[in-house]
Amino acid sequence: MSWDEWVRGPEVEPSLYAADFSRLGEQIETLLEAGARIFHFDVGDGHFVPPVTVGPIVLQWISPIVHRAGGRLDCHLMVEQPERHFEAIAKAGGDGVTFHYEVAEDVGALAAEARGHGLAVGLAFNPQTDPEQAAEVAEPVDLVLCMSINPGYSGQTFMPEAFGRIERLRDRLPEGKHIQVDGGVGRDNVPRLRAAGADLLVAGTSIFGQPDIAAAYRELVALT
Ligand code: DX5
Ligand code: ZN
Repeated sequence: MSWDEWVRGPEVEPSLYAADFSRLGEQIETLLEAGARIFHFDVGDGHFVPPVTVGPIVLQWISPIVHRAGGRLDCHLMVEQPERHFEAIAKAGGDGVTFHYEVAEDVGALAAEARGHGLAVGLAFNPQTDPEQAAEVAEPVDLVLCMSINPGYSGQTFMPEAFGRIERLRDRLPEGKHIQVDGGVGRDNVPRLRAAGADLLVAGTSIFGQPDIAAAYRELVALT
């Protein structure tokens, strides 16, 4: 599976980390009706990032809802040894995994292993990592994720350095390689992120923190 098959153009991806987990299915249905098709699902292990978040046990309940509508689940692995989770994520209905440059000794081997489980593949990098380092090893992956916060929690403030970091990445990646941005994305920065070269915009609090999540999603889409 590859991201090229799913991406319709610039995509706003609701980040489920910021959802109301007592109403998770309902909020996903609302966003599917509003047009969202790619949902971002954050897995944190309490080591690579401080919090333990959610994993395959939650994924298996939401993947049928998303797939029924033709949607996809983009799993952001904020974990050490990401390869330990590929199989369980694929079995629970995850469609793609994005692992971090900072824990990837051999990006090609990890990508091949993930693809062996039928997963699409992304490579994320933290604010402390140079975009050039990630770009250099990005050949085997479908997307490169530029973090615009230190990973771990939803609701953090966007780091404006991300604009320049995305431009540097765009300059070094071949056309067609997707650039994703995650952290503090909202109406104030979406146009500039698009201009810098990002096409996959992950948005947590700027959607789920609003009283009308469908309207918040559509507002961001209109800005892309
Ligand atoms: C946190 C996650 C993000 C998070 C984004 O490290 O990787 O996906 O949910 O949330 P917001 O959009 O609120 O920064
Ligand atoms: Zn994320």
